[in-house]
Amino acid sequence: MHLRSVELQMPDRATAVEFLKNPWGMTEVGTRGNTTFLRGTAAQHYAVSITEGPARAILSATIAGTREEVEAVYERVNQAGLRHGPWIHAFDEPGGGAGFYAAGLEGEPFRFVAEAEPPPEPLPTERANPIRVAHVVFNTRDRAAATRMFTDVFGFKVSDSTRFMTFLRCDDLHHVIAYADSKQPTLNHIAFEMKDTDAVLRGMGRLKDAGCGTVWGPGRHGPGDNVFAYFVGPFGACIEYTAEIMRVDDDYVTGTPDTWKFPDGRNDQWGIFTRDMEALSASCDTFPYGPTAA
Ligand SMILES: [Fe+2]
Repeated sequence: MHLRSVELQMPDRATAVEFLKNPWGMTEVGTRGNTTFLRGTAAQHYAVSITEGPARAILSATIAGTREEVEAVYERVNQAGLRHGPWIHAFDEPGGGAGFYAAGLEGEPFRFVAEAEPPPEPLPTERANPIRVAHVVFNTRDRAAATRMFTDVFGFKVSDSTRFMTFLRCDDLHHVIAYADSKQPTLNHIAFEMKDTDAVLRGMGRLKDAGCGTVWGPGRHGPGDNVFAYFVGPFGACIEYTAEIMRVDDDYVTGTPDTWKFPDGRNDQWGIFTRDMEALSASCDTFPYGPTAA
């Protein structure tokens, strides 16, 4: 399985779509009804959808897999008594396919999809454009319970735990889902993978030119070893350019809070970032979950 896409709802779809195209760097692939779809350069039908709706919200984080994998998760979701929607035979979206919605323990919205159509050709990657959605991070009041749900029901593995975050994987990417300790269950941020560090820096420049300064970065995280730069989109969500995310296999030794300690005054590997805590917390703490389809 892999993290495929993120579905968002926005009162002002046009502004969000324009921003995601330029300066963010995605490509619009079409509109169905009141939903517009955008892709990165990876061989995927789409990576982000924006549905026009009454309030901003994340409608789902979509994990794609084979029919067998998605059916197996559906069965475990049923057995675990997790809140979920019915099996949907044909999603009306690029790539199509079957699957279901499931709600996390605090309402965080997930969707599992087995695509019907083969993936499209990748787009050229020489430009500093997002490749794919790299990870989605949720705020939680009960990180242990959320982690158990992901490992026992969704079939993910824990890559690392720090004092306040847990990183989960379902393929060779160090993490595609993470949970952060928080007072309220909200979307923390959505990260987009860039080709390399140069592409992250070029992206920062493009965003700066467009009047959207970096709110945290550039830096290199500990767990996952990925380069980061965070921004606040015009739609209020915290979004990240990331690159050089560690690829892991079954031999990866799961880190604990003791593994991840930075020297005093540091909380990344480089120690050069600037950070706007006010802007960060206004976006990372407040973006809500949509009306659940589960
Ligand atoms: Fe991130």
